[in-house]
Amino acid sequence: MSSQMRLVNLCSNLMPVAPMATVTSTIHSERETSMADQTSFNHANAIEIKGLNKWYDAYHALKNIDLTVAHGERIVVCGPSGSGKSTLIRCVNSLEAHDNGCITVDGTVMGDAASIEAIRAEVGMVFQQFNLFPHLTILQNLTLGPMKARGLSRKDAEERAMKYLERVQIPEQADKKPGALSGGQQQRVAIARSLCMEPKIMLFDEPTSALDPEMISEVLDVIVDLAESGMTMIVVTHEMGFARRAADRMVFMDHGKIVETGTPSEFFENPKTERCRAFLNQILKH
Ligand SMILES: Nc1ncnc2c1ncn2[C@@H]1O[C@H](COP(=O)(O)OP(=O)(O)OP(=O)(O)O)[C@@H](O)[C@H]1O
Ligand SMILES: [Mg+2]
Repeated sequence: MSSQMRLVNLCSNLMPVAPMATVTSTIHSERETSMADQTSFNHANAIEIKGLNKWYDAYHALKNIDLTVAHGERIVVCGPSGSGKSTLIRCVNSLEAHDNGCITVDGTVMGDAASIEAIRAEVGMVFQQFNLFPHLTILQNLTLGPMKARGLSRKDAEERAMKYLERVQIPEQADKKPGALSGGQQQRVAIARSLCMEPKIMLFDEPTSALDPEMISEVLDVIVDLAESGMTMIVVTHEMGFARRAADRMVFMDHGKIVETGTPSEFFENPKTERCRAFLNQILKH
């Protein structure tokens, strides 16, 4: 089946269903479709999320999420704890399986194992915790993925690793173990490790929230630099100074829903909903 046809079939079930019914009928099923669906994916978009729902047992964590991210667009997602921010971005590279709705990344519809593998090859993710291997050097941490998953030779993988360590401005740390680096340096290594896989899209889940205050800006500067290079990215963060500097669009989530989206100036100067206004008042106070 062509990828276009698979896309069409997999995207056809956009209506939410009850949690019990999702156990077997999820994204792996193929269904009849209509002509209208066939034209629905716009290749100018890096990510299209339509009618996305996710349950953790009986808890409805994501409710009918629609979100489109254009190539090169920078989205900042914020919202209260438990609102579904991490769940949403984890669904984009299938770290969490969604129950229904459709996620399309660079034209590939998330469905079977092959599509998930193809999507993960294009999407890098950086977490709050750096998740580096403590017993390996920084260089070894960076070369592992490209050698194992991309088949690069050690020499090519090391060249690539050094290129990205330069990019995050810590090439001199290459031969140290992670434990000898500061938190900010370790997070920059984690970003370089993602970049070594040469993704088209980067997802960041609160990349600075585990850092001491004086290390936050060195990591944000690296992310701003990436944003300015044209990388498509979704960043979950409450660093609103960063959002004003780097975001094309803000997304505010609450209780599993996208409540509000807008440009940073619309969002900060004139929030549309009372919920968003209250949230901003809360976080901007500090
Ligand atoms: N693996 C899981 N099993 C059960 N419930 C989960 C799981 N992961 C998340 N949840 C629940 O889903 C909801 C959304 O969680 P999520 O981690 O996406 O929120 P968040 O907006 O990222 O919050 P935070 O700002 O605290 O990181 C929360 O109520 C959470 O308790
Ligand atoms: Mg989270």
